[in-house]
Amino acid sequence: MSNSNTITVTSPLLPDLEEFNQLLEMIWGSKWITNNGSFHNRLESALCEYLKVPYISLFTNGTLPLLTALQALRITGEVITTPYSFVATTHSIWWNNCKPVFVDIDPVTGNIDPDKIEAAITPKTSAIMPVHVYGQPCDTKRIQEIADKYGLKVIYDAAHAFGVEVDGESILKAGDLSTLSFHATKVFNTIEGGAMVMHDAEMKKRIDYLKNFGFAGETEVVGPGINSKMDEVRSAYGLLNLQQVDAAIDARHHVAIQYREALRGVPGITFFEDMPGVRHNYSYFPIFVSEKEYGMSRDDLYFKMKEKGVLGRRYFYPLISSFSTYRGLPSASPANLPQAHKIADSVICLPIHHGLFQKDVDLVIKCITNNH
Ligand SMILES: Cc1ncc(COP(=O)(O)O)c(C=O)c1O
Repeated sequence: MSNSNTITVTSPLLPDLEEFNQLLEMIWGSKWITNNGSFHNRLESALCEYLKVPYISLFTNGTLPLLTALQALRITGEVITTPYSFVATTHSIWWNNCKPVFVDIDPVTGNIDPDKIEAAITPKTSAIMPVHVYGQPCDTKRIQEIADKYGLKVIYDAAHAFGVEVDGESILKAGDLSTLSFHATKVFNTIEGGAMVMHDAEMKKRIDYLKNFGFAGETEVVGPGINSKMDEVRSAYGLLNLQQVDAAIDARHHVAIQYREALRGVPGITFFEDMPGVRHNYSYFPIFVSEKEYGMSRDDLYFKMKEKGVLGRRYFYPLISSFSTYRGLPSASPANLPQAHKIADSVICLPIHHGLFQKDVDLVIKCITNNH
């Protein structure tokens, strides 16, 4: 949110209230408010078209499709993953009684380093769960080659990767399953919400059963399902937001261009450039602060920005592997994750969203460049 006092890291994309009211009246009129309603089904079709994917299943948030993906593929034992993500990624592995095995990241992308995956594979490994962090595409080809070689499943946490394409193809088609988050902070939001993307109708049917308690009809339960059905109100909200998401991504892109122009050449500040052939969604704008070259620590800059009303976020710090739940795991040792620690200790995500004013962007830039 952007008001006279603070500039927040993001701001929810909200549909026009009058248009939303019209859809609410239709929902009230139909008295069908959840369980495969018409807005739910329309949103699934519209998302398949927008995202260029064959099948999608809506969820109530972005955590439950992760849990359900592991269930659906009957993953057991060890799951290789990245420590540089939001904690829900690793929690989903833990909730499935599997052991997360952390692998270090590639500092060029922030994503799991494919070169380090093979060394982490044991006879107990059954899956890899990479994250397209900040919407930066993972090296899906290399990861698939490794998965095929060892007979592993791949579940992508694509919570940040809405609309991201590589050479005109959706990144969501990679791996066995991909999951999305439609949380209020995301590029496309349904307030709370999420989805799973799959390759075939059989898997879609299975996931649809699992997100509805395992029900396959009125009297049959085919698995230990959960309740994660998206309701009509949020589906209608999503349909309206989908119409304006391209404009929101363009607005974010415009901010990213300005940040890059202003910060390129500032000693000790680095950031990601666009990747060739990739349609980015500009969901985040992380910068990395080298204290030695910049002359100020990441935290000092972060708090200095805060004093001026610029609320960046230290995403993702601390690393998931540093939280008490996970730090006892052998793979959580800092010696195993040097690049992830380096990036987590230097990152600040700058404000980026559709509602930033030019003066906001200028102030963010000033906070960083004025120390020089
Ligand atoms: C990488 C990642 N995975 C999973 C999630 C969980 O999504 P949700 O908050 O919709 O449950 C998030 C959410 O913020 C995320 O950033």
